[in-house]
Amino acid sequence: MDMTTTLVDHTFHKDVRRCFEKRTYAIPARWLYDRRGSELFEEITELPEYYPTRTETKLLKANGPAFAEAVGSNRAVIEFGSGSSTKTPHLLKAIDPAAYVPIDISGEFLEHSASLLQEEFPDLPIHPVEADFMKRVELPAAVANMPKLGFFPGSTIGNMIARTSVDLLRFMRETLGEGAQLLIGFDRIKDPEILVDAYDDSAGVTAQFSLNLLHRINRELDGDMPVEQFRHRAVWNDLYARIEIYLEAQADMRFSIDGHVHEMVKGQKLHVENSHKYGLRDARLMLRAGGWTPLHEWSDERDYFTLMLVEAHPYKHAP
Ligand code: AVI
Repeated sequence: MDMTTTLVDHTFHKDVRRCFEKRTYAIPARWLYDRRGSELFEEITELPEYYPTRTETKLLKANGPAFAEAVGSNRAVIEFGSGSSTKTPHLLKAIDPAAYVPIDISGEFLEHSASLLQEEFPDLPIHPVEADFMKRVELPAAVANMPKLGFFPGSTIGNMIARTSVDLLRFMRETLGEGAQLLIGFDRIKDPEILVDAYDDSAGVTAQFSLNLLHRINRELDGDMPVEQFRHRAVWNDLYARIEIYLEAQADMRFSIDGHVHEMVKGQKLHVENSHKYGLRDARLMLRAGGWTPLHEWSDERDYFTLMLVEAHPYKHAP
């Protein structure tokens, strides 16, 4: 077993134990993405109700010349949480970069998608980095002197609470350095019915995605949680401008995890994910709090999704 696996398993265990022992009834959303969870998320991106992936991909395809003009050529593109890198080719084609650095915590995923991209872009130097992008990342020496463009698509930032988002933006600024640019996707606030449907689809794929977390607990932490007695719920919280995902107990229950017995009562909910949505001014303010200055914005005709290009200016004393 390699070090990363040991570390990850231990933290998963700790987070799940805290959920039940301290009765927080909340488990960090990052644990949704084991192999099965990642497959289910790929399925989600193709659902008719789940508009973000389609909308952002369309924006990336349609605005190539504008990106090229704003970004210029010869930048090293650094992608945070690159996963399967499905949106990346559209950006790479548009801006003629000097190098590509995908960063992901899953080394296996990383090697596979980097080699697929290398086939499509045989002349592009690709330097995969296996790392947790929630902290400052040491970039490969080969890109040290190149101007940088960070890429953080998918509105993944929306899965973090505001404080964590700002921390992440600051770490990205440290990783990329002054003068760098960042192209980042934001899912916009819209009709709550459209939002709830996107997170509670009629085929039940999103429900399987959330419930897989309980299967994962049973598989990896020696649990016997009665998965079929939980129901997936997607709720719009207007005050926090976010979709909240819960798994709600449909009956009183008793189960054990790693030899410890826990109880839940009918109607009690486990909070497993948040997906924040943004107004343009919300997103700009958050970016500025993280040390980034807005430069350009591209939105679709329905204002469902926005790509923002921002720049790491030197810090200045403000009045
Ligand atoms: C990865 N992330 C941006 C997705 C979202 O829309 O918040 C995760 C997701 N969860 C359920 N559906 C999609």
